[in-house]
Formats: sequence, structure tokens, C-alpha cells
Amino acid sequence: MSSTPDPGLSSGEQAALVVASLVIIAIKIVIVVVVCHKRAKSQSESAAPDSLFLTLTMDKFLKDMARENPIRFTSQQLRIATDNFTNLLGSGGFGTVYKGLFSNGTIVAVKVLYGYSDKKIEEQFMAEVSTIGRVHHFNLVRLYGFCFERNLRALVYEYMSNGSLDKFLYRENKNKTIGLQRLHEIAVGTARGIAYLHEECQQRIIHYDIKPGNILLDAHFYPKVADFGLAKLSNRENTHVTMTGGRGTPGYAAPELWMPFPITHKCDVYSFGMLLFEIAGRRRNLDDSLPESQEWFPKWVWKKFEYGELGDLMIVCEIEEKDRETAERMFKVALLCVQHKPQLRPVMSIVVKMLEGAVEIPAPSNPFPHMMFAIPCPVLPGHVTQTSSFNDSDSSQLPYFSYMRGTPIMRKHEIEIAST
Ligand SMILES: Nc1ncnc2c1ncn2[C@@H]1O[C@H](COP(=O)(O)OP(=O)(O)OP(=O)(O)O)[C@@H](O)[C@H]1O
Ligand SMILES: [Mg+2]
Repeated sequence: MSSTPDPGLSSGEQAALVVASLVIIAIKIVIVVVVCHKRAKSQSESAAPDSLFLTLTMDKFLKDMARENPIRFTSQQLRIATDNFTNLLGSGGFGTVYKGLFSNGTIVAVKVLYGYSDKKIEEQFMAEVSTIGRVHHFNLVRLYGFCFERNLRALVYEYMSNGSLDKFLYRENKNKTIGLQRLHEIAVGTARGIAYLHEECQQRIIHYDIKPGNILLDAHFYPKVADFGLAKLSNRENTHVTMTGGRGTPGYAAPELWMPFPITHKCDVYSFGMLLFEIAGRRRNLDDSLPESQEWFPKWVWKKFEYGELGDLMIVCEIEEKDRETAERMFKVALLCVQHKPQLRPVMSIVVKMLEGAVEIPAPSNPFPHMMFAIPCPVLPGHVTQTSSFNDSDSSQLPYFSYMRGTPIMRKHEIEIAST
């Protein structure tokens, strides 16, 4: 188009022509700018697929969380969230736990399970995850989802910022200890969580591994029981080595777990009792730095109870007078919970009521009548053998797996996938 005015046109017509030309040029510029912008945007998206992927994931993640379905994550999604499995929170008998952050700000704990996935166990794994993922209670750690790929089996939990109870319980963590009234609240909350698993879930869940390391504390020090349902997801015999070859953690595991007796939910009641001794006493049940009579705390508590000398216990455990009644209640309940015969142990909902002082606590009988013949393997909790097959460098080498589609198995178990 020429910009020279046509001598045959009037000055008004010439002005209109100039304006029209300018408008057309402006439109062309706008079109060029828009096209360039779109190209640049699509290029930057293809250069960073992870961020787009994660954004989509998060939209769905939030919807799934609202629907309370367990979510299936890919290993790549977990690798991004955990920054290549770098922020280690700890490890235990089942796996190694890493802190993770999703782009919407949700902080999670990713437990990478030991061993490799076997296609044959996929359905069973889904079924268990589906069950655990639907169990919601204020005193139970929430399972958001999982990953099941050839080289990565992982569980994604809500993150508990104060970590596990053992870090606050014992005197070696002097500047981190918690007062007795707060500890009592932690004991009641823990008992409520276990009571829910035993008595209120559609399908009873036996924990098998109640111990301070599996009681996690949130930002306000509210307790939440972790790792329930895990026993079924993992072949414990391969990971947990105990003195006896039995299940659970030595020092907390009920005698029937390492003897040929039937196992019921009462094994958790026993473990809770052992935990309660440690909570009320703010010491490890086994402490060989103490005089021999006090070395194994539960037996010493029984002796003091038997001879009506609970006052000594209060002095040695540095329990203030104002807390004495609460502490006595906790010790009595603990003695009831660790009764040798499972049928003599109370159910957890009654334990809650006893701890709260809502029902009278019957006098416990000697929980250790067989001590002469079988010592309930009081091994220090820290002695659980770990057989990690993952470490940071292993995890960072996890092969990239493409996004997995939902299978009929997943749909059957109402599991969602963590992307569009
Ligand atoms: N959801 C979570 N939030 C924050 N920290 C966690 C979470 N889950 C686990 N941890 C940390 O990771 C540590 C290891 O946990 P893990 O469950 O692997 O071992 P454990 O509880 O000692 O033994 P077990 O395998 O018998 O449960 C815990 O002690 C705790 O500090
Ligand atoms: Mg644990």
C-alpha cells in the first residue's frame, strides 16, 4: 500500500485513507505480537513440562483430597516434590522417609518402602492402600496417596512438623521434654487413635507396632498414630529383625507376637501399655545406666505398686505433686494394659476413659508372673535392625517412568491418579 496521497482525491478522502492505513498497520503489529507471545509461551511450557505437570497434578490433588480418595502418584511427581529424595526425615523397619513439598504448598512425608514392586502384589497393595487411605481420625496420620512402580513403592503422608514422640520423651533430650499434663493429653489422643482403628473402623485394623517412633506430633503437639495398616503392606519378616524372629518392635511387642499364641487387637493394647510407662516415667523402659532394680521400668513400677510405694516412683520420676494423681492413673492403666493374658487387658475405648478419669481403674494383678521363665525381650527401641536398600543416591537414580493410566484394579479400589 502506497503512503503517497492521490492527487485525484479530496483532502478529506486522503486523510481517511491515511487513517485506514494506520489502523491496518496497527492490527498487523498486534497480530505479530500475539503470535510471538503464544510461541514463546508454548516453548517455555515444553522446556519445563514438570511445572505444568505439577500444576495439573495439584488441581487434581486438591479435588481428590476433598473427595478423600487415595491418590496414585508417579515416581517423577514424587521425585520433584522431594527434590530428588534429598531431605531425609528418618528411616525405620519399612522404609526411608523424606520431606516433600507440592507446588500448592502442601508439605508431605514420603515413605519409600524397602524392596521392589512385584506386579503380583499390586492388587493386594491397592486394596490395602485403599483401606488405609479412607481411615480418617484426628489422632491418625493421614495417608494422601502412594506410588507403585517397578522401582519405587512409596506412601505419601501428611507431614507432622514436630516429628515423633521419642524425640521429646527421654531425659537425653533435656531441652525438648514436654510437661506431664501435655504428655497425658498425648497419651489420651494416642489411645483414641488406636481405639478408632480397633473399634470404629469398618474393618478392624491392628497396628502391630505401637511405639514412641510411631506417634507423631503436629505443630500444636497433638498426637497422631502413624504407620497403621503398614504391617499388611510389607513383608515384615524381611525387614524387622527381632531377637525372636517375631513381629513388632522388641520392648513393645506383646508376648503372643513372639510365641505360638493367637494374635488379636490386644497386642496393640500391650504395646500401648509399654509406651504409657515411658510417657509417664519420661524414661526408656530399659535403661542399664540405672540401679539394677530400676533397670526395667515396668517391673519396677509393678513392685512399687504392689508394696504401695508409688510415692517413691513420683520422686524418682521427678513428678510434681500437682501431677501426681494424673501420673498414678497413667501407671495403673499401663499395668493393666501389659497384662500377660490378652483377655485381661482392657479394650482401647476403656483405656481412653480410664486415662481421662471417667471410669474407675480396677486394681491390676501382677503383669509379669512369668518373668522367671520368659523375659519379654526388653531390647532398646533403637536396636531395630534396618535393612535399607535405598539411599539418597539410589533414589536419585530412579528411572523416569511415564505417567501411568488408571487400571481396572485402581478403579475397583476407588484410587485416583494424580494428574489429568
Ligand atoms: N508423616 C511424617 N511427618 C514427619 N516426620 C515423619 C513422618 N513419618 C515419619 N517421620 C519421621 O521419619 C522417622 C522414621 O519413620 P519410620 O516410620 O520409617 O520409622 P520408625 O517409626 O522409627 O519405625 P517403623 O518402621 O517401625 O515405623 C520418624 O521417626 C519420624 O521422625
Ligand atoms: Mg514409623
